[in-house]
Amino acid sequence: MENKRVMSGIQPTGDIHIGNYLGAIRQWVELTRNHQCFFVIVDYHAITIDYDTTTFQDSILKAAMVNIACGLEPGTCLLFVQSHVPEHMELNWVFASCTMVGRLTNMTQFKEKAQQHETNVNAGLLNYPILQAADILIYKASLVPVGEDQLQHLELARDIARRFNRKFGEIFPEPEACGKSVRVMGLDGENKMSKSLGNHLGVLETPEEIWKKLAPAKTDVQRVRRADPGRPWMCNIYTYHEFFTPEDRRQYCYDQCQEAGIGCVDCKRILHEHLCAALAPIQGRYRELEQHPDTVRDFLNDSARQAREIAQQTMAEVRHKMGLR
Ligand code: TRP
Repeated sequence: MENKRVMSGIQPTGDIHIGNYLGAIRQWVELTRNHQCFFVIVDYHAITIDYDTTTFQDSILKAAMVNIACGLEPGTCLLFVQSHVPEHMELNWVFASCTMVGRLTNMTQFKEKAQQHETNVNAGLLNYPILQAADILIYKASLVPVGEDQLQHLELARDIARRFNRKFGEIFPEPEACGKSVRVMGLDGENKMSKSLGNHLGVLETPEEIWKKLAPAKTDVQRVRRADPGRPWMCNIYTYHEFFTPEDRRQYCYDQCQEAGIGCVDCKRILHEHLCAALAPIQGRYRELEQHPDTVRDFLNDSARQAREIAQQTMAEVRHKMGLR
């Protein structure tokens, strides 16, 4: 376990929310403690949908800064930009020849995206999971911390590894999903937290912005008036307490809610205090990094250099096995 390599991909956006943090980044930081970890900001994946070329570099840098601020620090892992290691694309092409078109057209995410972007159903969108397999396998990573929505892509990566190994000789491990995926609901209490649904709390939002969203957020639907006893086990806000509020304060909310001792607003104030306290150090580190973008670029470049050495070794093996010498 300890020696297995970990790899995951990060979308090039700085707009990350507490769902991303609790559901993914926090687990990655945990993994960096006893694994060699590769985190790649997937700019080549991002161009498969329409995007703004003028702000793209800023988004990539911001994504790096937020993730570093959340704990993916230099010295603990490699964090780099996908297009800085061109071998990902080379392996992508090799893998394209090991992948049946039918598998790609069947992918749930492809079908969803094709629907969302019906005027731009390009081949990149179709081939997206092949590049993802290359991201993982170019480092022979065997652990991939991803959420449920990526399990199908990971299954394909395993199939590609198996197919390649059978056809050309054993090179790649079959990567597995790892980490418990924590599903964080949005402020509407109905859907998974997501930026596109607008039900999110951003990691970089100010206490005022957070309060503005928290105040009207859904609680136990049966608690209509202040005097009604509440059911914390049915309350979405209470699930956030479980992430951020220390045990004794949380228990206080749990008990007082049921006795109508405190109202939903009181309960949200307590959450707000602890949530903001948890975000403050991340936001502080982020502001520091903003002042020193060159240290962030150095980290990205240095990581890309180290990643590339490994990627080139893998490609040399691949070419050798495939008779491409
Ligand atoms: N497709 C992944 C997502 O949308 C991002 C990704 C790209 C990725 N390459 C990866 C995840 C490699 C894990 C491993 O979240």
